[in-house]
Amino acid sequence: MDFHFSEEQLQIQSIARDFAQKRIAPVAAEFDKSGEFPLENIQEMGKLGLMGIEVPTEYGGAGMDSISYVLAMIEIAAADCAHSTIMSVNNTLYCNGLLKFGSEEQKNKYVTPIASGEAIGAFALTEPQSGSDATAMRCRAVKQPDGSFIINGKKSWITSGPVAKYILLFAMTDPDKHARGITAFMIDTAREGFHRGKTEPKLGIRASATCEIEFSDYRATPDEVIGEEGHGFKIAMGVLDAGRIGIASQAVGLARAAYEAALEYARERKAFGAPIGSFQMIQQKIADMKCKLDAALLLTLRAAWAKQEAAKNNGRFSTEAAVAKLTASEAAMWITHQAVQVHAGMGYSKEMPLERYFRDAKITEIYEGTSEIQRLVIARNETGLR
Ligand code: CAA
Repeated sequence: MDFHFSEEQLQIQSIARDFAQKRIAPVAAEFDKSGEFPLENIQEMGKLGLMGIEVPTEYGGAGMDSISYVLAMIEIAAADCAHSTIMSVNNTLYCNGLLKFGSEEQKNKYVTPIASGEAIGAFALTEPQSGSDATAMRCRAVKQPDGSFIINGKKSWITSGPVAKYILLFAMTDPDKHARGITAFMIDTAREGFHRGKTEPKLGIRASATCEIEFSDYRATPDEVIGEEGHGFKIAMGVLDAGRIGIASQAVGLARAAYEAALEYARERKAFGAPIGSFQMIQQKIADMKCKLDAALLLTLRAAWAKQEAAKNNGRFSTEAAVAKLTASEAAMWITHQAVQVHAGMGYSKEMPLERYFRDAKITEIYEGTSEIQRLVIARNETGLR
């Protein structure tokens, strides 16, 4: 057991922190207000290696480990949750999926431009009528005599959908086989048959663009199938296990920002002739925030470590990822709530970032598997029962 980070891990943490504090934090409120996609910042993050941290350098990434990814995500999320959402989907749901399941040719073609930040990637699983119950999808890909697939259907809540160049799509190729009838495809958004639908007006992470996408007779060639036909659901679940570590890191970053703001305010704000941090009711909040934050951080690092260990023998880390995501997202929601309370009226004001932290925290309990789904995954794995 060693709680020290390596030089390389500290280096990427420092690069991410520097960029987050200088380039993201000063503009986060403005992007939240306008809902504009922060393209220039994302491209800059790509140049720094932050859009493909675990992607080997030969495919345009930084070639670093999962711990480095967690550390960098925390720094970006502490400055702005929306930036970290875009970063997380690019790094884990998109690049990680292709690295694990794509062919050499697919990795060269589809990972390199996305990991380097030249273009943006997205992941499309959810549909208007299927979220947690992902196998209930209706998007169909019908195999043609020449081996290509004609895709029709709709996907919703697609993070970076409005700006993505490529999308990792999951569609039903054999409905009779349910989970085993789903196949993963690489979608080129410039191709005929791909359409973008309405954008989602959201409570938080407003600068991360989210929209519906639709396919009308979109033709995918056989070399655009990712992994084996019928293995799409397992690919989606495996990718989401990694994605959940990204969301846990995001929640930790957000919670840390809210905690640090509350701590500073508790030291400075005076009431009844003393700093409010000297009152036991505020002290209790500070102590509980600190415990939840540390627990979330350590469980997230453990999940990243478990992912690295699992990669050595092609194993799974679903429980560790779900435990981290559940703990960190609920900690972020609780800590941002308490931080608003410590700031009282100022916490409710748009003059401070607390209300944004509070709005942004909610999504971490919802996307990449709700808290209920995380509990289901953990309990099924622990009991062996379904
Ligand atoms: N890794 C690999 N394979 C897995 C797996 C995993 N983590 N979890 C399940 N599988 C396999 C199972 O072993 C099983 O394989 P066999 O057919 O060989 O037995 C198969 O997948 C089906 O598994 P289940 O029977 O457990 O599937 P289920 O229908 O009961 O669903 C679930 C399980 C946990 C509820 C799953 O559907 C789930 O995680 N749902 C939540 C979906 C989700 O997270 N959506 C988020 C959308 S993406 C998003 O938010 C993106 C964004 O833009 C930010």
